[in-house]
Amino acid sequence: MTQELTPGPPGLTGPHSVALDLTGRTALVTGAASGIGRACALRLAAAGAKVRAADRDADGLRALQDAASGGALEPHPVDLTDAAGLDAAERTAAGADILVNNAGAQLVRPIEEFPPDDFHRLLTLMLEAPFRLIRGALPHMYEQGWGRIVNISSVHGLRASPYKSAYVSAKHGLEGLSKVTALEGAEHGVTSNCVNPAYVRTPLVEKQIADQAAAHGISEDRVVAEILLADSALKRLLEPEEVAESVAYLCAPEASFITGASLPLDGAWTAH
Ligand SMILES: NC(=O)c1ccc[n+]([C@@H]2O[C@H](COP(=O)([O-])OP(=O)(O)OC[C@H]3O[C@@H](n4cnc5c(N)ncnc54)[C@H](O)[C@@H]3O)[C@@H](O)[C@H]2O)c1
Repeated sequence: MTQELTPGPPGLTGPHSVALDLTGRTALVTGAASGIGRACALRLAAAGAKVRAADRDADGLRALQDAASGGALEPHPVDLTDAAGLDAAERTAAGADILVNNAGAQLVRPIEEFPPDDFHRLLTLMLEAPFRLIRGALPHMYEQGWGRIVNISSVHGLRASPYKSAYVSAKHGLEGLSKVTALEGAEHGVTSNCVNPAYVRTPLVEKQIADQAAAHGISEDRVVAEILLADSALKRLLEPEEVAESVAYLCAPEASFITGASLPLDGAWTAH
């Protein structure tokens, strides 16, 4: 039986629900050229932050700059999987008050067919790069006694799925890194948290949906409800702006006691 898709929340493109004033703050967002990172960069810029937008996609960064009115957005083209890029990223993190570790990628293969080079690349991008960026950001945050680190993990930081060995390993590792950062940062006014979305409507996921619909000969709605969201009680995709709003909340004064936590935006997937 085909399940009805749950309607999304109204007013996502309206005024932001979290009151947030980041005037005078600098935020660094990785993977800012697309999807969730783009939404986070625009959200933090709208709150008044100067945003350092890091991504390997220079064209995407230019488009993001055009979308962010007011010129509060500084593009930083960088590849977070090579040694020089990691060094540059660590330097770029110096002086940031807010760090959003978001850049990520996926490869779906059984372990025995998973190319070791790809495993290494995904771990570098989604675990080593966040470590290097946190390392670069902490001295300034400690000096001023305030900092916010938000790691875009995934429901796959809390649950495993077959064929996603590198992704699940990296996200579980990121959960650990985030908690250690929270313990070390607490006395310096620095919080560190993970956000754990289920499937979000981004270019990456839209392509997966189209591919699966073609492969199985079923509608895209059925792919979403019956394949992607098999473990989610809510049968809809998240929007990138919903993830960005949770990031905004974790940067707000009301969230100053939330640290070392993981915030599932998963339609009750992890309630199982
Ligand atoms: N889309 C989802 O369903 C979903 C769900 C849970 C978690 N996430 C996480 O959210 C984050 C963003 O995902 P998204 O769906 O917005 O993906 P996306 O593909 O739309 O955006 C990812 C961005 O990361 C950048 N990037 C990739 N490799 C890079 C590299 N080597 N150096 C620098 N930048 C690089 C890409 O250029 C792109 O702009 C990822 O960490 C992902 O694991 C996504």
